[in-house]
Amino acid sequence: LTIDLQQEWKGLQNRLVDLIRSENKSDLGDEVMELDPRVYTDTSRFAAERSRIFGEEPLLVALSGELSTPGDRVLFDEAGPPVLVVRGEDGRLRAFLNMCTHRGARLVSSCDPARRLLCPFHGWTFDLEGRVVSIPLAQAFEGVDRAGRALVRIPVAERHGMVFVRPRPVEPAASGMPAESGAPGEEEIDLIEFLGPIGPLLEALELGSLRRIQADRLEVRANWKLALDMGRENYHVPAVHKSTLSPNLYPHVTAFDVYGPHSRFSGASRDFANLLGKPESEWPAMSYQAVHYLFPNTTLSFTHAVDGRTPVVTMSRVFPGEAIGQAVTLIATYRRGAADDAADAQVRAMHEAVVQIVGSEDYGVARKVWQSLEHGAPALPFVLGRNELLVQRYHRELATRIGMPLP
Ligand code: FES
Ligand SMILES: [Fe+2]
Repeated sequence: LTIDLQQEWKGLQNRLVDLIRSENKSDLGDEVMELDPRVYTDTSRFAAERSRIFGEEPLLVALSGELSTPGDRVLFDEAGPPVLVVRGEDGRLRAFLNMCTHRGARLVSSCDPARRLLCPFHGWTFDLEGRVVSIPLAQAFEGVDRAGRALVRIPVAERHGMVFVRPRPVEPAASGMPAESGAPGEEEIDLIEFLGPIGPLLEALELGSLRRIQADRLEVRANWKLALDMGRENYHVPAVHKSTLSPNLYPHVTAFDVYGPHSRFSGASRDFANLLGKPESEWPAMSYQAVHYLFPNTTLSFTHAVDGRTPVVTMSRVFPGEAIGQAVTLIATYRRGAADDAADAQVRAMHEAVVQIVGSEDYGVARKVWQSLEHGAPALPFVLGRNELLVQRYHRELATRIGMPLP
């Protein structure tokens, strides 16, 4: 089952043209839903989200292009223990606790590629498979089982150009076999099952061929779900992004698609004026653009820039912070094509504009909502419209997966 992205875009364009002309303007879900604001303030829910969702669900940590060569590594510190993902000499990815097995020092702090991992505390050295390769003053550790001192493995898997981890250590096998010999890792996360029906669409995006241009980390004083809500609907765009995003979009015109717990939406840019009233055969060339959501916390916004044909992806991941009223967002922007200073600079400028808009406009609202909620949830529940279908869906999905029905 393969998807042709141009065909996919034609289908979306037709739906968006119909929506522009329609009275509804937006695809609509079946029903309005009330949402009790305690989902944002209940500390037992927060604890369950951190352990059940961010400890057990696959989390996107990188696109494959960031880990293309043996020795390339990605550090991931936002969900549970610090994690290190490395491409091995054999081309396979492995993920480890980023912690030395001698006395717990943070093993790797730099993303510069290298064939050996050197601990900054006492200088133990590990290879890319996580094995101890040298110990200074080795005679002092005589009798210590080196294989048993291999780095602690974390489940990792790669598919459609995306790399996922589950930031909880692999349980040592019952047989007491050292972690390296059983090669847990890749088999521990079933990405075909996890991605389900959105897999072929993500495959068509060819995410593995993208290069990372720039990345930022935003902290927000709000529950993480208030931050994530902002990216799950277009309804707020005319008001919140009045002078930034809104002038280039038909207000409220949005096509939604759901793929199990994952989803996609696409709005109509003002360029769609060139399509109205014309047969499809006369439509000017335009390229696919949409926002893809991977449960629980990731959006991949796919568009084209530079010459209007270069695929550019902004990946945004929202994480719960240490406290219920803190969230962290990682935003990174990628593009296809060889390095080129002028083009990279354009994409960097796009990235900075997005960070500015999300940080001040979107999270400006989220912070104010949180300021009200932390003084006690109002008696009146919130209400999610039929156009806020994707907000409805992910709150339901979260509630199901943490085993705590919506209040
Ligand atoms: S903690 Fe790493 S060498 Fe001692
Ligand atoms: Fe927004």
